[in-house]
This record gives sequence, structure tokens and C-alpha cells, in this order.
Amino acid sequence: MIDLSVEIAGVTLPNPVLPASGTYEVDQVHDGFFSPAELGAVINKTIFLDPRPGNPPPRIWETPCGMLNAIGIPSEGLRTFLDEQLPKLRKLGPPVIVSIAGNSLQEWEALAAAIDESGSADMIELDLSCPNLEQGFIWAAEGQALSEAVAAAVEVTSLPVISKLSPNVRDIGEMAAVAEAAGTAAVSMVNSYLGMAINIETRAPALGNITGGLTGPAIRPLAVCSVFTAFQKICVPIIGIGGIATWRDAVEFLLAGASAVAVGTQNFVNPMTMREVIQGVAAYVEGNGFSSVRELIGLAHRVPEC
Ligand SMILES: Cc1cc2nc3c(=O)[nH]c(=O)nc-3n(C[C@H](O)[C@H](O)[C@H](O)COP(=O)(O)O)c2cc1C
Repeated sequence: MIDLSVEIAGVTLPNPVLPASGTYEVDQVHDGFFSPAELGAVINKTIFLDPRPGNPPPRIWETPCGMLNAIGIPSEGLRTFLDEQLPKLRKLGPPVIVSIAGNSLQEWEALAAAIDESGSADMIELDLSCPNLEQGFIWAAEGQALSEAVAAAVEVTSLPVISKLSPNVRDIGEMAAVAEAAGTAAVSMVNSYLGMAINIETRAPALGNITGGLTGPAIRPLAVCSVFTAFQKICVPIIGIGGIATWRDAVEFLLAGASAVAVGTQNFVNPMTMREVIQGVAAYVEGNGFSSVRELIGLAHRVPEC
């Protein structure tokens, strides 16, 4: 019997595969493909305190091996989320991660406290790293801002806090260490890479927001490198994200040091991806003589035998 369960900050996930925030609406279109109950955890698209419209179109631009998006996180706001979306997420079965983003320290506090009080979340993920917001402010891009935002959320909740980090920094391992020192219980990495495309017909930027975030298989080696680097600098668990399209990619992240993985862009390409990744990882664990997926975590850090 293969044990696929992993632990993130005291919360047991039945398997290490979950959706990346913003790429999988579990109560809608995908319900017909496979049951969200099979996932390691479920997560909402990041919510803000107040409703917001997001960025002007076009919001998506295809690139070789990936996509650029500048959605800008449209949000119905906290109240609607608590009343309408969170109860649906809770009913799905797997542990619930609620993704939040604040425009100020007070907002981080208010959001984290409200999610805690709802009693319907198992963990809170702080989206500290979206590159598409109109204020142009990325909390995870600067050590002091990152530290203050994480501390503000941690202070008001007893739920484990996951800090979602930005790859658009000099050393993501250092930023992971900053988040750990501020009290985060886990980190997730990476969010999208800042990028842009120019439409040669209109001779203007392709996205309404001008710049966007690059995701998909194109970023996978960069994201694996981020996880590998951070694993050597922090003790809290890592959720690996970036370009996962098959179970092989997920195994790569686990070997680099991730305790769990999240699938994003590939859900739009093949809505069965997460189920296929769970099955493939299980087969890899069994086929290679391991009894638990946990045995894979960080194995690539061993010094190879001569
Ligand atoms: C269309 C789209 C919307 C996204 N929305 C969010 C979001 O609301 N919050 C967040 O933390 N990350 C968001 N992300 C980033 C993903 O969660 C993930 O970190 C990123 O896409 C990298 O993973 P991937 O290469 O597997 O897509 C979004 C990504 C895409 C493509």
C-alpha cells in the first residue's frame, strides 16, 4: 500500500497534489472531469478585502511553452467569499487553503482574522507576489515589506500561514528565510515571472496591463531551481509550483525539496492533469521501491555516491 500523504505545517494532505491559486474553479466547470475530493487540498483564487474589477483586457497572451496573464485579480471581496464560495470549498472534502491578498498591513490582518474566525479553513496562503496589480506593489519583492505582511497575518490567526513568494527577486531563498523568520509555517513558490509581449500588428503591448506574468512549462527549470535553493535555506515545508504538466515534473519538484506541488497553467490545457499527476507519482513511488511519497522529498540534495 503506497502512502501518498504529506504534512504541511501540521495539516495532513491525503496526497501532495493541489491546484495553484487562480487556475482551477472547483465548484464549476471541472466538476465534470474528476472529483475535487481526489485532490491533496483545494484553494480559491486570491481574494481581497473589497471588490475589485481586475485589469483591462486583453488579459491573456499565449507564448511558446506557456502563457502571459495580467488578470489583475478581480475579486468579489471578502464578504461574498465568506458567504458564497468558502462554504462550497469546505464541502469538497480535502483540506481548504484560503488565498488572500492585502493592500496594507491592516488589510492583511483583517483578512487573516476573518478567515480564521470563519472556522472553514485549514491554512491561509498569503499572495505576496502577484506581479499584475495596478498599485505595482509586490510585498515579496522587498525584505521588510515581506516580513511585516507575514507577521501581520501570523499575529491574528492560529491557522498555519503559507507565504507565496515571488521569483522576481535577486535570491528567492533569502526571501524564504525572511518569511520563515517572520513566522510563516510554509512557503509556496513560485508565482509568475514578470514578462511582456508586443503585438506586431498593432505595434503595441499585447496585454491591457502592458506587463504580465509568465507561467507554464517555460518556467519549470527556473521554479525547480528556486525550490532547490530555498530547501537549503529554510526548515519550513515548501509547496513547489511552476510549469508542472506531468507527473514527472511533480517528482522533480519533490526531489528538489517540495513537500507538495501545485498545478496551474496546465489545468487549462488538460483538466485531467492533477488526477494524472497523482496517479503517476503513486506509480513512481511504488515502481522505485519506496513506501511513502515523503521519502522523495529533497532526495536530489544527497551527494551522489562515487
Ligand atoms: C490565469 C492565472 C491566474 C492566476 N491567479 C492567481 C491568483 O489569484 N493568486 C495567486 O497566488 N496566483 C495566481 N496565479 C499564479 C499561479 O497560482 C501559479 O503560481 C503560476 O501560474 C505558476 O504555476 P504554473 O506554471 O503551473 O501555472 C495565476 C496564474 C494564472 C495563469
